[in-house]
Amino acid sequence: MDGIPVVITAGPTREKFDPVRFLSNPSTGLMGYALARSAARRGAHVTLISGPANLPDPYDVEVIRVESALQMEAALKEHLPGSKVFISAAAVSDYRPAKLEEEKMKKSGEPVTVELVPNPDLLANAGKNKGDRIHVGFAAETENLKDNAGKKLKDKNLDMIAANDLTRSDSGFGTDTNKALLIFSDGTSEDLPAMKKSNLSEIILDRIENLLK
Ligand code: CTP
Repeated sequence: MDGIPVVITAGPTREKFDPVRFLSNPSTGLMGYALARSAARRGAHVTLISGPANLPDPYDVEVIRVESALQMEAALKEHLPGSKVFISAAAVSDYRPAKLEEEKMKKSGEPVTVELVPNPDLLANAGKNKGDRIHVGFAAETENLKDNAGKKLKDKNLDMIAANDLTRSDSGFGTDTNKALLIFSDGTSEDLPAMKKSNLSEIILDRIENLLK
């Protein structure tokens, strides 16, 4: 992958509703950072756009740190043009609070309702004019793994999707391992056993190299 520009998103996003509180998810960024390391070792020029993750910058990778989905969207707008591969490993929050309170919300003892508005789907939007760039997504599912992931592959105009079954203890958020079903846009699929995220990242990069040929 010598010199090939690759953009990877990783980690969760944080959607603030006041200066000290936010909506997020348990993503640690491990999968996206492993992919960034694997791609950089293969000679790719890697830009890693990371939500808040407690991980060090991978060697030889340009790391851009963001908080919210809208900040991630802005970073993608800047870095996707000219890239050849986009891997969307971030657990982007689907919603954000409609309003960011300027001051810390005070408790009143009464129930509180926070209105949420949808965030843009960063991967689907990027898929609208991807040209010959390879797009790879992840699917986090708790049911109908193959059908739901296959639908995301089509809806988001992907070349490949790695589907994770979140009900398994060896897959998904925060685990060091992942079990993935890889589905390709030509209709083929590959059911991989559970393995370390660092090993899965090598297989995903191998498949991406095939797609680039
Ligand atoms: N994704 C994204 N922007 C979003 C939501 C998701 O770019 N606002 C990307 C993720 O990085 C992942 C893929 O889309 O590569 C699928 O994410 P997932 O959370 O599995 O699915 P959603 O599209 O959010 O659908 P749902 O929550 O209904 O399952």
